[in-house]
Amino acid sequence: MSFNATTKLCAQHFYTTSPFTSPLRKSTKVDQKRSLHARSWLISEKPHNFTKINLSQLFQTRNRFTECHCQRAGDITNLSHDETNGTWVKDAMNKASQVLGSPNGKSAIGFENGSAKHGEETMRAMPEPAKDLQTKKRREGSLVEEEAWRLLIESMVYYCGSPVGTIAANDPLDSNKLNYDQVFIRDFIPSGIAFLLKGEYEIVRNFILHTLQLQSWEKTMDCHSPGQGLMPASFKVRTVPLDGDENATEEVLDPDFGEAAIGRVAPVDSGLWWIILLRAYGKCSGDLSVQERIDVQTGIKMILKLCLADGFDMFPTLLVTDGSCMIDRRMGIHGHPLEIQALYYSALMCAREMLTPEDGSADLIRAMHNRLIALSFHIREYYWVDMKKLNEIYRYKTEEYSYDAVNKFNIYPDQIPSWLVDWMPPKGGFLIGNLQPAHMDFRFFSLGNLWSIVSSLATTNQSHAILDLIEAKWSDLVAGMPLKICYPALEGQEWRIITGSDPKNTPWSYHNGGSWPTLLWQLTVACIKMNRPEIAERAIEVVEKRISADKWPEYYDTKSARFIGKQARLYQTWSIAGYLVAKLLLQNPELAKTLWSEEDPEIINAFNCMIDPANARRKRGRKVLKKTYII
Ligand code: GLC
Repeated sequence: MSFNATTKLCAQHFYTTSPFTSPLRKSTKVDQKRSLHARSWLISEKPHNFTKINLSQLFQTRNRFTECHCQRAGDITNLSHDETNGTWVKDAMNKASQVLGSPNGKSAIGFENGSAKHGEETMRAMPEPAKDLQTKKRREGSLVEEEAWRLLIESMVYYCGSPVGTIAANDPLDSNKLNYDQVFIRDFIPSGIAFLLKGEYEIVRNFILHTLQLQSWEKTMDCHSPGQGLMPASFKVRTVPLDGDENATEEVLDPDFGEAAIGRVAPVDSGLWWIILLRAYGKCSGDLSVQERIDVQTGIKMILKLCLADGFDMFPTLLVTDGSCMIDRRMGIHGHPLEIQALYYSALMCAREMLTPEDGSADLIRAMHNRLIALSFHIREYYWVDMKKLNEIYRYKTEEYSYDAVNKFNIYPDQIPSWLVDWMPPKGGFLIGNLQPAHMDFRFFSLGNLWSIVSSLATTNQSHAILDLIEAKWSDLVAGMPLKICYPALEGQEWRIITGSDPKNTPWSYHNGGSWPTLLWQLTVACIKMNRPEIAERAIEVVEKRISADKWPEYYDTKSARFIGKQARLYQTWSIAGYLVAKLLLQNPELAKTLWSEEDPEIINAFNCMIDPANARRKRGRKVLKKTYII
């Protein structure tokens, strides 16, 4: 995937607008239907005066086949980056080696050659004390860690010589790559965080700024366009012939907003993850200039406007179609799936921190604030199940027509599945997968539950209870490989109806109860936040037993995760990055703070007022709560 700057010419047609420097997009036959100046017309109602600069002409005469002169994301900010292509990788590898403690910036056990076998040879040639040190590190799984760093670095994707992301899967022997040769927004998050935690910021900044440019593209499917703030699910760097010159090529970023994806689903989670990563970038690097940029602020607002738009819904949760997140195929999660709600809440929290207060954003900030309160109340109250709550549901009266109905969503007690009656531990609980009128999806979805802890969508007690449940149900949720994407699997007639007889989502495979190693990083952040890192440590031990030998699969199959997934990709980048993030965080738990959100006292207060009106009156008397929130 890497770009060889000495053999390709990167041409650049771009527009300059004031105050925004424009997209890195170029006009090519590949994308001639797409808008070149989408960003500019979205930012302002009035058209800007464009000055079109065709740099390709200049490059053709001056630099053909020698250098890449594409505008870099960093150039937009006028930051100077004069390092030559490829330096970053070398630096990163050296730093990776240093972090792993090898002398002279070189890996003592073969990091630079990426071979554990080579590492054996290197170790034999080492002095005794160094050998002892290395032996200890091996015990700690450092061999796996070193391999993971090498694989992560090899998965990096370049655009005009600069790193912009990581490829989804990098198995050289895979002949049917589908879209796994693309940079997925959601898949890049653990990669980006691994780089951030290591102090490598450039790739993350480039990713943030390049994907921002993609956000504004005109995207259509059968003449219909989704909302303007939508972020793509993935993008690919393509090398295409340069118009009018058969000897030259240029690189283009080609996004997929769902118009090519299997099932044609818009990735609702992409924009939410983008905001979360942007905040993590600022926290880790201390560089707030990226989030303060006008185009980045506009990008945040566009995502928020899309998510906060009024609709027909009575609930504060985000209404989405099936497959609009990590589970990107039909799995019966349409409606208000927990994963999207947790990411939504998290993105609102992060955006609220990052939005610059100005006249134009006051309404948006108010809307966000109100939504945060309503959303947390709704999820904490109505999505939560534990033994006590299950027993309440079991005794629900139905068909209550009134404002003070207890069973607001008219849930029929018969819906409580028999597996849950036996499965729910006496200590512990979790947030259910989805809530609709007369329907509770009682499946346990790992990402939604973990991210509810990380974002403080769940209360402190609920967060502990979720971890209690994971511990109590270890043999179901972790078993041979952390972590089940959901539990339990849909089987038989249910599988036929809900998945549409999807052969990839057969019981205990892929999205239907498969085990996904990437979820280890979210588990680790959640455990560290709740001061229970030993749970994540235990999970890492399970991972280290086999993931490297299994070639870093995308997912595992069977109830206890015994087999590598039937259609799982190998060398799946987010399995690799998820492991690295977990390791880095456990080595330095303080860093995890950059990834979570603390509970907002105003939200706690509003929540208390809602569940206890007496409390509300008392608090109001003390002038603590000034607003009324309608749920
Ligand atoms: C699968 C997963 C999706 C992931 C993609 C690339 O489609 O379901 O979550 O982003 O592969 O790895």
